[in-house]
Amino acid sequence: MTILVTGGAGFIGSNFVFLLLEEHPDWRVVCVDALTYAANIHTLNEAFRSPNFVFYKEDIRNREGVCSIFEKERPDVVVNFAAESHVDRSIENPAVFLETNIIGTAVLMDACRKYGIKRFHQVGTDEVYGDLPLDRPDLFFYEDTPIHTSSPYSTSKASADLLALAYYRTYGLPVTISRCSNNYGPYQFPEKLIPLMINNALQDKALPVYGKGLNVRDWLYVKDHCLGILAVLDKGGVGEVYNLGGHNEKANIEIVKIILKELGKPESLITFVTDRKGHDQRYAIDPSKAMKELGWAPTTAFADGIKLTIQWYKDHLDWMRECTSGDYAKYYEEMYGNR
Ligand code: NAD
Ligand code: DAU
Repeated sequence: MTILVTGGAGFIGSNFVFLLLEEHPDWRVVCVDALTYAANIHTLNEAFRSPNFVFYKEDIRNREGVCSIFEKERPDVVVNFAAESHVDRSIENPAVFLETNIIGTAVLMDACRKYGIKRFHQVGTDEVYGDLPLDRPDLFFYEDTPIHTSSPYSTSKASADLLALAYYRTYGLPVTISRCSNNYGPYQFPEKLIPLMINNALQDKALPVYGKGLNVRDWLYVKDHCLGILAVLDKGGVGEVYNLGGHNEKANIEIVKIILKELGKPESLITFVTDRKGHDQRYAIDPSKAMKELGWAPTTAFADGIKLTIQWYKDHLDWMRECTSGDYAKYYEEMYGNR
């Protein structure tokens, strides 16, 4: 079995690579990643020690490059994590989101058609369903909730999902899609809420909370997301979409206060800043299809997962320093300087 994982030097992709090497030591894991700002090659240090792991620095938009990897490696299964993933960056610069998230996905699926595969799995997001109002806690996202996107990021991800379903219907490509809620855990780039707040708090810097901090996200520990994708590969039906989430809704301000408490830092670090444009109010996944059909369920409670995550960042200050060197200071100044 050869599994090709794109975006494996990023947050969720790397956690998936580690899970594969642990759960399926006999599988060959081929990782393809362009190593954008969001990647850190050192994240994969442990994986490089495995004889079953191979890495290609390649851009999924590069048709020739992607095809030559397929020609050489002949993957049985492809899991596509590679994407531009940050909503705020998509608001500033949408073009690269359309190129990587839509065109890149099409290039990969064309290679899958050309060389033949058993499964193409597209890693999707709950953001394709748009948002839910804060005053209707009875409402959830189901797999058949209409696509209704807000940001260039979510629109590009919805386009990729629709393209994948089109390749299934038109060409019979054996496609599955998972749509997951917000992930947290080790190796998340510190542009996202939880690692950004941990990093700032550790340095006694202001914690920039958008708007009033009342927007709600549905948090899932990254390993549970990865286990969900493995369950889809194992038991999922082709042409099917599976929602993955843990019924763990929290307002942003709650998350920030939990982090401060855990780190023993004062709430006076919290600074309310101008809201994100088009900011989605609430995400809330109904994961019952995946639970019933795949036997999947989250295994890490938020109270434990957030402690593990904070401790992981405290233990990996060098990794954080690598991520925040280079262009990060410029990004931070542009995004938060005058906010
Ligand atoms: P990330 O930004 O941490 O990592 C993305 C990886 O993709 C990086 O290693 C980057 O170098 C690589 N990449 C980007 N453009 C590429 C290109 N053109 N060619 C090859 N590689 C490229 O993202 P993440 O948070 O790990 O998200 C992974 C996937 O999961 C994305 O598709 C995202 O939409 C989806 N997702 C993320 C979350 C979340 O909470 N983070 C939730 C649901 C779904
Ligand atoms: O729901 C799944 C999605 O979750 C994934 O598809 C995306 O790739 C991932 O980035 C994430 O999107 P969000 O926009 O929800 O994540 P982010 O960490 O950027 O923001 C979480 C919430 O925190 C959101 O309401 C905005 C707020 N926020 C974020 C940052 C970075 C702040 O208040 N301050 C901040 O500095």
